[in-house]
Amino acid sequence: MNPLDEAKWTWPPTFVWGVSTSAFQIEGATREDGRGPSVWDIYGASGRVANNDTGDVACDHYHRYPEDIALMRELGVRAYRFSVAWSRVLPQGRGVANEAGLAFYDRLVDALLEAGIEPWLCLYHFDLPQALDNFGGWAVRDSSGWFADYATLVARRYGDRVKRFATFNEPSIFTLFGYALGGAAPDAADVSTLRRAIHNVNLAHGSAVDALRALVPRASIGAIHNVQPCLPATPADADAADLLGAYWNAAFPDPQCLGHYPSRLVEVMEPYIHPGDLARICRPLDWFGLNHYSPIYATANPNSPLGVTPGAAPADISRTPVDWPIMPEALRETLHQVHNRYRLPIYVTENGFGGQDAPDAAGKITDTPRIEFLSAYVEAVRQAVTEGVDVRGYFVWSLLDNFEWGSGYAVRFGLVHVDYTTQKRTPKDSFFWYADLIKAAQGAS
Ligand code: NOJ
Repeated sequence: MNPLDEAKWTWPPTFVWGVSTSAFQIEGATREDGRGPSVWDIYGASGRVANNDTGDVACDHYHRYPEDIALMRELGVRAYRFSVAWSRVLPQGRGVANEAGLAFYDRLVDALLEAGIEPWLCLYHFDLPQALDNFGGWAVRDSSGWFADYATLVARRYGDRVKRFATFNEPSIFTLFGYALGGAAPDAADVSTLRRAIHNVNLAHGSAVDALRALVPRASIGAIHNVQPCLPATPADADAADLLGAYWNAAFPDPQCLGHYPSRLVEVMEPYIHPGDLARICRPLDWFGLNHYSPIYATANPNSPLGVTPGAAPADISRTPVDWPIMPEALRETLHQVHNRYRLPIYVTENGFGGQDAPDAAGKITDTPRIEFLSAYVEAVRQAVTEGVDVRGYFVWSLLDNFEWGSGYAVRFGLVHVDYTTQKRTPKDSFFWYADLIKAAQGAS
């Protein structure tokens, strides 16, 4: 783009600026008002999370959501992506619904609408009800029926006010790490369980899309996938990278959007596919949610159940404090790939910077590296838009510092700092940067 065009360029007026969170990472109140345990409660209680952290209190968003919505309002976001905790609304995962849990999301949705912020509801963000895991969880085929019933409950309850729905967040991450690579609940390590889980989650996605479509007039339905270039850590790791990339980037979006498994996985998935399954999985979608932070590097590893593990990036690549390579051009490239392969409008549903921010003596949080990171990634989105990629929105991960899974509270992604002792929220410099960006982008339109 030449400098003259550049000066004239404005973000499309309908471009959605947002922030994302998830239930288990912020809500806390894990034993309140009838909520049942999820696999992450059990995993946390077993001491497998850094510093023995748990989600018991987290950001106490369950009680402090009005304050968090006020922060979003100040930020100026048009949309807020959150997830419903399945075990809060169905403590056993199925059967009798929990009215107190359902009422929490009523309050949340109503307060968001009142604040002029569109709720983007994700049905599943890693937190399977423990009661269902006890029956085999995603490894059993019945799971798609459990999920469809849960989707039906959510659609009936909130479908009058919520129109944006996502089925799953990052299915490849919770299946790969939860069933094969380790490091996430339910912490199994078996490739056939992984493959079973992949197929059942895909079936659950398709069934939920049908339930939402049938019950919510004018619903806009998508699924959220992490797609990131999967590169060999060394030239000898090329085949391992190809295999990991198939699981990581394609095992879900390909069947969901194209109706088949990626060629590298067709043979190994075959035993789990019943006649008609692929048609049940591939239901029309309205958008593709892309979570993207960095490329990944694969290392062949004969000791891993998959024969490959995510490895370290080459030493000369700049990284965030949690060692994720900083490569905004990989986002631009990924946007092109997703656009060309799936032909759906894209929303960047997560992008963010994990660090260890702390307030200075004056209580101010100067997170310049996060601002630099986000600016470069937003610029990559802008370039992709100018090149014809249909990107319609961008959501920062995350509004608040929160429970970062296996890393607990040690890694902070928020635009707002959370003091976990006092629950005090303090907007970081990046919060004001994002607020200015949104104002400029919308003001210019
Ligand atoms: C992906 C996940 O969806 C979210 O839960 C996580 O906290 C962020 N990325 C950062 O790792």
